[in-house]
Amino acid sequence: MVKILSGTAKSSQAANPGTSSGSSKKRCTRRDLMLGFWVGIALAAIYLNTKRKPVIHAAASTTTKTKRTSPASSGDTVPIMSKSTTAEAETVPEPATTAETTTSTTETTTSSSPKIEPPAETSSSTTSTSSTTTGTSTGRRTIAGFTPKPGHKDFQKIGANAGTDKVWGADTFERCLQDQSTCPTPDFDNPKCRTLQGHFYHTLYNRWLGNYSLDDAEPFQFLEIGFFNGRGYDAYKEFLPRAETHSIEIACLPEGPREEGKWPWGNFAKENKHYQEYLDTNQLHCGDGADYDFLHETWTTHMKRPDAPPLKVVVDDAAHISDHMAKSVFFWFPKIEPGGILVVEDIQPIHEANKFRTDFLPQMMKDLHYCGDPKFPDKACFPTLWPLLHSIHCEMHICVFERNEMPAVEYDMERSIPPPHALNAEECLLKASGGATYG
Ligand SMILES: *[C@@H]1O[C@H](CO)[C@@H](O)[C@H](O)[C@H]1NC(C)=O
Repeated sequence: MVKILSGTAKSSQAANPGTSSGSSKKRCTRRDLMLGFWVGIALAAIYLNTKRKPVIHAAASTTTKTKRTSPASSGDTVPIMSKSTTAEAETVPEPATTAETTTSTTETTTSSSPKIEPPAETSSSTTSTSSTTTGTSTGRRTIAGFTPKPGHKDFQKIGANAGTDKVWGADTFERCLQDQSTCPTPDFDNPKCRTLQGHFYHTLYNRWLGNYSLDDAEPFQFLEIGFFNGRGYDAYKEFLPRAETHSIEIACLPEGPREEGKWPWGNFAKENKHYQEYLDTNQLHCGDGADYDFLHETWTTHMKRPDAPPLKVVVDDAAHISDHMAKSVFFWFPKIEPGGILVVEDIQPIHEANKFRTDFLPQMMKDLHYCGDPKFPDKACFPTLWPLLHSIHCEMHICVFERNEMPAVEYDMERSIPPPHALNAEECLLKASGGATYG
């Protein structure tokens, strides 16, 4: 939660410390009380039921412990290896592996041999003595995630040094799995969410930014939205030596009331030891990352210069408010050069970010598959975005939107901000394409 709270402060409308949202002014009637009672009983039953799972996890984790490096033993009881929705195929040319776990016992002591573990999701072994990860294979995940390819830098290592929570999950998860009581949020159903303020983003970054981390990569432009204390930014800079990097932060606005376009809640960006340097060299841009005018000015004056390298990578790690996240996609995605990517972080089930996950993403996903057959009652949800969208790849709480081969576009203001239905999927998803009546 540390991250979420601080994240909230990262952007304008976000931070309203002390304002509780969703409080109902209605008075409780007797009926409400009865309903509450039964809901309580039901929740208690569900809770008690889920409480039984940790026993399994605990048992499984003891076996993992004895082997230290084995992340993905007992297939479905320890779902550590969250699989990205669509990624794999073209990005990781992995060595041919034996997909079927034939004799799982022979795999247990391979820590120094080049034998490759079967992918966790195909492992059908029921005994928890199945596979071992050696950490020597290329492009193969360990509990820590993903071994970078030759020449690629390692985002996990760099992120851990920089102290960014983007990789904390990977750094703390093993201990938390072995001893659930050490987890920050031990009672979450999903083991990976028990490290709530720690993420596992290094796998996605290694995969998608690996090529950009090469020392001889083509120069490119990189933008982060949400500098905060700059730990993530420092990590990106080290990971991407060939990038011209930029970051946007609201907290370094002059101190004062929001109504005057200032920031009252303290300048956390200042904590960064390169703060002044970043300001002086036009890397750090102080303003509201959800405000069109500020974004437009930043883009046209500091980034879209004749001598600037092409904008290839944009990362939204700002306030994690659905509306702001949608704004980032609408403003930045069309400006990214062909083949570039937009990364959106922290798509977790939290109040602020929820609509992005439940309403925005599904509409993007629908559009990804859009054809526009005139004989089929169909509609694109975001007509300005789908013509530029090549793919969507997500891992837990983080997604990549990949640009296709179409040239970057400078839309006018109206088309650079989300339409009213961006965070309300109902119409476009359920009604606009024939719905249940079709087929
Ligand atoms: C990285 O570069 C290699 C070699 O050019 C290419 O095959 C691969 O698809 C690239 N990966 C990504 C994620 O762009």
